[in-house]
Amino acid sequence: MQFLEILEKKRDSGRLSIAEISFFIEGYTAGRIPDYQASALLMAIFLNGLDTDETVWLTESMLYSGLVLDLGDIAGIKVDKHSTGGVGDKTSLVIAPICAALGVTIPMISGRGLGHTGGTLDKLEAIPGFDVNLDLDRYRDTLRRTGLCLIGQTKEIAPADKKLYALRDVTGTVANRSLISASIMSKKLAEGIDGLVLDVKAGRGAFMERLEDAETLARLMISIGNRMNKRVSALITDMNQPLGTHIGNALEVIESILVLKGESDPHRTDLVELSYALAAHMIVMGDRAGSYEEALGMVQQSIDNGSAFEKFKEIVREQGGEDTCLDDLSLLPSATMTCLINAAEGGYIDSLAALSIGRGAVLIGAGRQTLDSVIDPGVGIILNKKIGSRVEPGEAVMEIHYNSEEKLAEAMSQFEGAISISKDPVPIPDVILKVLDEGETT
Ligand code: URA
Repeated sequence: MQFLEILEKKRDSGRLSIAEISFFIEGYTAGRIPDYQASALLMAIFLNGLDTDETVWLTESMLYSGLVLDLGDIAGIKVDKHSTGGVGDKTSLVIAPICAALGVTIPMISGRGLGHTGGTLDKLEAIPGFDVNLDLDRYRDTLRRTGLCLIGQTKEIAPADKKLYALRDVTGTVANRSLISASIMSKKLAEGIDGLVLDVKAGRGAFMERLEDAETLARLMISIGNRMNKRVSALITDMNQPLGTHIGNALEVIESILVLKGESDPHRTDLVELSYALAAHMIVMGDRAGSYEEALGMVQQSIDNGSAFEKFKEIVREQGGEDTCLDDLSLLPSATMTCLINAAEGGYIDSLAALSIGRGAVLIGAGRQTLDSVIDPGVGIILNKKIGSRVEPGEAVMEIHYNSEEKLAEAMSQFEGAISISKDPVPIPDVILKVLDEGETT
């Protein structure tokens, strides 16, 4: 088989066979197909699409490019959550300890930042010493003892996705529903879970802007999960504005800790509502509660009695991190300079474009612009206002935490352009737009 023929077939909108898809995945994973050819095929797929069968074949090829873990020897139903990617989305850091504190086993294998969106691994690495690169023996052992483990893809888990994910990030080929589905489902199905709750983002800061497209993506992933005998449900959630108030790696760790400690802020209600809802769905899927309402009550209890925060400290310690940082947040990395972005006029915040804020965050160093960019964990943004907030002329809407004047200058137009203000009151948007239960397939 010639890779060039496969590439040309998809360029001309042809349908790839299972053999052609596995030829691509095997060849690319083994290094026989170079990045420039893989990039060209990704772009052809991005432009011309894959149908459901091609997407399932791609997922399977990526899944079997590495080890498929069997966690059958670890007690309990294993449940994970995965988000399609957003700005300020730190729910994994909140819900993983909540669910583990409530007895659900959480084997969480996460990704790094992609495009303008942040990644759980980059956030966890903002905690000094935290090791996301545990080998599989330590992963199993940690999971067995603490009910939770937070790692990145090891070289054994879906290695095809690991390579493709990094390549898509720098070739403008992220926002395609088949590529996203195959990427997420291959690594999630490889980690040995019984069930998965998906957080599929919709809006201008999401890879899928329109609600209908996000729903199609969610249904596609539920279908793939069902074909592989896994329980999968999905929440479609808003990503027009960043989630919560903090964006950037250490800043997102700080906000997660505030949520785990029950420290409320009116601008953080979206993050709290979504985290609680995702956790409650996972608790029901993990058979720890008989109803969603009961599970929500348990989530609140785990915050009120401190067990969720204690579980977070435990996992930080287990994975080599300095848990003293969680009690003294000033020990986390921070930026050396801050500047305010003020409202040009008074009124109500009408838009706080997640895409622009995410792009701005990448430009000041919170994300990667190339494969080998190094993340600056301390930089980021704190939002003082959210959509619907009243703002006076000249009042600060956001605070930028940065380490380089040059990078800030590059990012400034993104931050300023993210804000729009209306004279008339603007309703506070819902964060949860739709819930798709298990079985709601394509
Ligand atoms: N998250 C993933 O794991 N993969 C994607 O392609 C997008 C979001």
